[in-house]
Amino acid sequence: MTSFLGSNKGLIDFDQKSLAVAAASIAFNPIFWNTVARQEYHNKVLTKLAGGNSLRACYGLAITIFSLGIFRDFLYERALRDQPAHPLLDTAVSTYIAYALMAAGNVLVLSSMWALGLTGTYLGDYFGILMDDIVTGFPFNVTASPMYYGSTMTFLGSALWYGKPAGILLTAEVLIVYLIALQFEDPFTAEIYAKRERQRKSGKKEL
Ligand SMILES: *[C@@H]1O[C@H](CO)[C@@H](O)[C@H](O)[C@H]1NC(C)=O
Repeated sequence: MTSFLGSNKGLIDFDQKSLAVAAASIAFNPIFWNTVARQEYHNKVLTKLAGGNSLRACYGLAITIFSLGIFRDFLYERALRDQPAHPLLDTAVSTYIAYALMAAGNVLVLSSMWALGLTGTYLGDYFGILMDDIVTGFPFNVTASPMYYGSTMTFLGSALWYGKPAGILLTAEVLIVYLIALQFEDPFTAEIYAKRERQRKSGKKEL
């Protein structure tokens, strides 16, 4: 008996190693940057590696995270190529939705990077490089996490564009790992900024 999901001619071919590799890469990236950024925050590990220059250290992490993202996208596309397509996803409507998702997702990601700048996008707060003010304009008036939701939309768009159910499964994983990452990142960065606020207030009292 072959299960609906498990058979080779089913929705998803779980026998393909490329699927597991892509899934591992999707999970690895946020774990990597959260671990490294917290090491930087507590022990200044990257700043020490960069000879005491926090800005240079943050740029180094930015390049690393960006490259890991490109590599993950490559593994994702490679995994999809090994997967069966589904006729329901092979329609004109599906393709239009795919284009809309990829366009909207990229708008969210790129406008978020534009609004935050390089250090703001790539965990500068953990290096002590804080934003002057909380960014409230577009795309942050649409969603609090445009980078993560935009990225998820782009993954879903690709899944539909290729017409591959496996892509929808991997997109669900992307969303879940980002939602878990937010549970760690949001309170942590909120505390970094709250700490600055407390320091500013106590600094003013001394004047
Ligand atoms: C977000 O801000 C932009 C301009 O900064 C504006 O055009 C848009 O309507 C706003 N969206 C929402 C949902 O408030």
